[in-house]
Amino acid sequence: MAKKIAVDPLMDKLVSLCKRRGFVFQSSVIYGGLGSCWDYGPLGVELKNNVKRFWWEAMTHRRDDIEGLDAAILMSPQVWVTSGHVEGFTDPLVDCKKCKMRFRADTLESKVCPNCGGELSEPRMFNLMFKTNIGPVDDGSGLIYLRPETAQGIYVNYRNVRDTARKKVPFGIAQVGKAFRNEIVTKNFIFRTCEFEQMEMQYFVKPGDDEKFFNYWREQRWAYYAKLGVRMDKLRWHQHGPDELAHYAKDAYDIEYEFPMGFKELEGVHNRTNFDLTRHQQYSGKDLQYIDQDNGNERYIPFIIETSAGLTRQLLMVLCDAYEDQKVADKGTDDDWRTVLHFHPTLAPITVAVLPLMKKDGLAELAQDIRQGLKEEFATDYDQGGAIGRRYRRQDEVGTPFCVTVDYQTKEDDTVTVRFRDSMEQVRVPIAGLVETLQERFAGRV
Ligand code: GAP
Repeated sequence: MAKKIAVDPLMDKLVSLCKRRGFVFQSSVIYGGLGSCWDYGPLGVELKNNVKRFWWEAMTHRRDDIEGLDAAILMSPQVWVTSGHVEGFTDPLVDCKKCKMRFRADTLESKVCPNCGGELSEPRMFNLMFKTNIGPVDDGSGLIYLRPETAQGIYVNYRNVRDTARKKVPFGIAQVGKAFRNEIVTKNFIFRTCEFEQMEMQYFVKPGDDEKFFNYWREQRWAYYAKLGVRMDKLRWHQHGPDELAHYAKDAYDIEYEFPMGFKELEGVHNRTNFDLTRHQQYSGKDLQYIDQDNGNERYIPFIIETSAGLTRQLLMVLCDAYEDQKVADKGTDDDWRTVLHFHPTLAPITVAVLPLMKKDGLAELAQDIRQGLKEEFATDYDQGGAIGRRYRRQDEVGTPFCVTVDYQTKEDDTVTVRFRDSMEQVRVPIAGLVETLQERFAGRV
């Protein structure tokens, strides 16, 4: 009987594939799992690093005007007073008086508990920052927070970076790192989690130039997704209305992606004005003005255009976008279907899998040698277990763009078969030119 893989909702299939193939596991699973926290397995960490590298190269290496930073997660608690997070980084929460479950009031559709139908409490404002304690004494004097955004690490280093890297306005600082929010979430996999990673860039501009650079960064960020290879008809802009704008923002647009549960925020582009640096100057007593030596030593506090993307959320988008259950035959058997992740080769956790047709007759050793020769250039895998067709399917399912098959002909004429994931086309290639062939295909030149 044919497999019924086309009927389940996409998110369920992704969660199952991610667990089965080692992309994402529930955190602390042997203890029953910790809600809203996930671990990235062998393939997940590669995919995450590849997405991170793609963003980092686009935002730093390919530009002259942006420097990188890696600030500490733990910061002076004063940072979060200054930024407004201690006072205002809150969600309205309600508790069920019967089953004691807690929900975000603004996401509830009914007035009773969605879990047990019990009566709900009045909403209370709940701060999303995780608290911890620094130092040996636990009497409250060492209270600090896990950062809820990476942006503040950039603001407090604005002067350090400007001076050491000798940057002139306009310039930017980019950072990728963990952020923590005590979110009440029960669904949607890694979309919203308590521990996640952000990829943020803060661009410092002269007041008055902010609208120009705001539009510029909206264009840049849209172009980034086209380059990442996702389906552009699944993306759209959402401008924040007056009731959505953060306290610091003059204008803000989200790029939304059509996830299985609908269009949801992927990244924000914000005009944060000079709110953050003005506040840090005021509370730290340090002069954060910029002296424009090219303009008669004019002094001003720069405005900030922020591009703020979630790395783990981008990873979910890449997975959703790449996933396909594809009918490849019509024999009425399980083999009619394959599951394939159509990752851009730059993002694929494994680029090339080397497969000996048989384990015996020296084919396995030959395949291992060939793999060895590819390791410098590509992320490789080796698989000698089971029928070759099944092995192709296993690689399709984790998005490996190229398979190299070593067979008896290889022993005779030093050629191998290269099989391409998306087209399933197979070509015969001399081992001597294998790296170049794969590089050309990798770069999309063929
Ligand atoms: N510095 C601005 C800032 O943090 P945000 O809209 O709160 O703005 C930016 O977050 C991005 O971070 C979001 O667009 C989303 O991609 C990601 N993000 C925020 N909260 C998240 C969470 N709980 N889990 C996963 N990603 C999250």
